[in-house]
Amino acid sequence: DLPPIIIAIDGHSSCGKSTVAKEIAQKLSYIYIDSGAMYRAVTLFALRNNIAGNEQVDKQKLIQSLPEIKIEFRFNPQNLRNETLLNGENVEEEIRQLPVSQHVSLVATIREVREAMVALQQQMGKNKGIVMDGRDIGTVVFPEAELKIFMTARPEVRAQRRYDELTAKGQQVAFDDILANVIERDRIDSSREVSPLKQAADALILDNSDITRQEQLDWVLQQVASLTGAA
Ligand code: CDP
Ligand code: CDP
Repeated sequence: DLPPIIIAIDGHSSCGKSTVAKEIAQKLSYIYIDSGAMYRAVTLFALRNNIAGNEQVDKQKLIQSLPEIKIEFRFNPQNLRNETLLNGENVEEEIRQLPVSQHVSLVATIREVREAMVALQQQMGKNKGIVMDGRDIGTVVFPEAELKIFMTARPEVRAQRRYDELTAKGQQVAFDDILANVIERDRIDSSREVSPLKQAADALILDNSDITRQEQLDWVLQQVASLTGAA
């Protein structure tokens, strides 16, 4: 068998990183890790404990609370989904809701939070054979990753995809709120001091505004194949 590699997928919010990352992982029998879920779980902890709210975060309090926050992933064989656990509780649904989305980018600016998450992520990838998506995977978490992809799409397209997803689940959301959140998170993520969202020098760009899920999957698999001979 060919040696396993690390696949890093970074990019703007809601463009389809986790969708394609999951598909690739399944195809290659690799582990998939959603690094955004980790920042979201920390944010949920902060919201629940009044450390965050009203689009503000008490940084010092959150840093002090870090030792109390345990994040794990668990595969649920019943629905074949990955679940994010916060101190043992399945918070997979709750971390995707708008209150978390509205505070997560602020939480993700905190150096100490990032250091804790990056250490966990590097631990998870130590045997390679992993696909991880996020903002700083190819630049900071795994700068030596064999394949780096930087994904993007037009903001309106991304907001529409997120809107469709939430309304399909029966949630009452306004398209304009989602679009504003997508744009605001990109702004904070790209301009923060610690590990800002940026394209790694050796990343391949994938703009999927006008391509289907199948087309983007085929494109990524082609990149994997040309690296490893697999897929
Ligand atoms: O899926 P979506 O694009 O909505 O976002 P996500 O991947 O779940 O990430 C949520 C937020 O976490 C991002 O907007 C970033 O602020 C932060 N994040 C980060 O800073 N670094 C990562 N490696 C992953 C996420
Ligand atoms: O992980 P990220 O926030 O980048 O995006 P996601 O959670 O994978 O959500 C992307 C949404 O866009 C999903 O509902 C996909 O079905 C949809 N989509 C896609 O991923 N790729 C396309 N080419 C078209 C639609």
